[in-house]
Amino acid sequence: MTEVSFQSVAYLLAALLFILALAGLSRQRTAKRGNYLGICGMVIALAATVGLALLHADAVLVSAGLMLAAVVAGGLFGVFKAKHVQMTEMPQLVALLHCFVGAAAVLVGFNSFLMEPGGYYEGQMNMYHLGEVGLAVFIGGATFTGSIVANLKLSARISGKPLMLPGRNWLNLFMLIAYVALIVPFGNSVGVEEGLPYLIAIAFVSFALGAHLVLAIGGGDMPVVVSMLNSYSGWAAAMAGFTLGNDLLIVTGALVGSSGAYLSYIMCKGMNRSFTSVILGGFGDAPAANETAEKRDYGEHTEITAAEVAALLKKAKSVVITPGYGMAVAQAQFPVAEMTKKLLAEGVDVKFGIHPVAGRMPGHMNVLLAEAKVPYESVYEMDEINDDFSDVDVVLVIGANDTVNPSAETEPDSPIAGMPVLRVWEAGKVIVFKRKMGNAGYSGVQNPLFFKDNTAMLLGDAKASVDAINEGL
Ligand code: TAP
Repeated sequence: MTEVSFQSVAYLLAALLFILALAGLSRQRTAKRGNYLGICGMVIALAATVGLALLHADAVLVSAGLMLAAVVAGGLFGVFKAKHVQMTEMPQLVALLHCFVGAAAVLVGFNSFLMEPGGYYEGQMNMYHLGEVGLAVFIGGATFTGSIVANLKLSARISGKPLMLPGRNWLNLFMLIAYVALIVPFGNSVGVEEGLPYLIAIAFVSFALGAHLVLAIGGGDMPVVVSMLNSYSGWAAAMAGFTLGNDLLIVTGALVGSSGAYLSYIMCKGMNRSFTSVILGGFGDAPAANETAEKRDYGEHTEITAAEVAALLKKAKSVVITPGYGMAVAQAQFPVAEMTKKLLAEGVDVKFGIHPVAGRMPGHMNVLLAEAKVPYESVYEMDEINDDFSDVDVVLVIGANDTVNPSAETEPDSPIAGMPVLRVWEAGKVIVFKRKMGNAGYSGVQNPLFFKDNTAMLLGDAKASVDAINEGL
């Protein structure tokens, strides 16, 4: 087998493993296997790429040393970050990782241009090649700065408020036009001296566009933006693959690009928002409808103690737990798993109802429950459980708010109107765990569920509350 066909077979195998990894990651039960398959694919891809590069290197030892240093440094950074990151910090870590992909696409683009500024391809092919380089730098540059801004906003190192410059959409359009005006002469340029100023200008335009696009989006919408940047980083990698003539990078980039785009779509659907409304920004920034809702009189709420909840649970035949962001903040998943075990042992039917956008990232609740070893078969998606609430004795809403807010169905002027929600209020009794009555959920709107006759509020930190219930059980 020639070197090239050996590499092609290795790349094909790696691409198949990446596809199988994605398929595995789509289910909690198979997610671990999916991760292992992805790791195998990456090892094969790296070995094939590095191996072939070394075969052709002039100074093999120096090249091998440099590559090893890069792999070890990157690997150590990755392991360190993964070991220390809190679940709630995951979105900002993912944003940081995307900024590396964007930077890599920019560097690959510049490198490819500086190494072969015009002599590699002839005539029209050269124009296409330069077009790929320019596009890789543009998408990569926007991903790079956009991801840095997303990381800074998510880690609260800069304000999460959307930057609403006057005429900001015109500014974005102007930058897109500037890109087109630069890529045309760049594609027709001959040699480094003529082309480099255009490529540098393209990079600066893309840096400004990426930063401005993400600065204009409110901190709360960052998870959707992170998933969108994930998609961009995939397309940037695919463009880098075209530039390098690397099939595996094209396939992998396309997989990341399309799965990121689909994930953004799922999130927007779960929030009943259009993708454009997220990109245009400003969500949850005290819309007028909130104020009207705040002024509306929903009546008095009822409070309950942990001991009373424990007594209620002992008598119940069926219990559904609907967790939300507050369970993640309180790290209450472990006592929740313990409570589930106790109730199951008493013969109570316990299920979990998971809203697609509960928490702050896709699959947030599933990951927490898996971490606490809650049995997979007790965990149901919203659509699987939403028609069953009328047969449930007790629902425990643990740190969820927007995802169980009935006004999404009943108040057409609410910012969350039309968002699909878990219809917990149809159950016999609803217990809501939260710290303070005045605090709103992610979208900043009041929740009439808290004031319903069959709802009781268990105020306090969710972990402490569930611990106290466990004592009572
Ligand atoms: P939220 O609406 O954000 O409400 C969180 C609730 O948890 C609040 O009631 C809060 O009340 C309570 N809480 C916070 N810390 C707590 C603690 N230590 N102990 C007890 N309770 C605590 O949560 P949700 O229902 O999960 O909804 C998620 C929201 O995020 C949706 O609006 C969704 O659109 C949005 N979002 C989600 C995603 C993804 S992909 N999941 C992405 C972007 C946006 P207190 O402050 O009073 O405790």
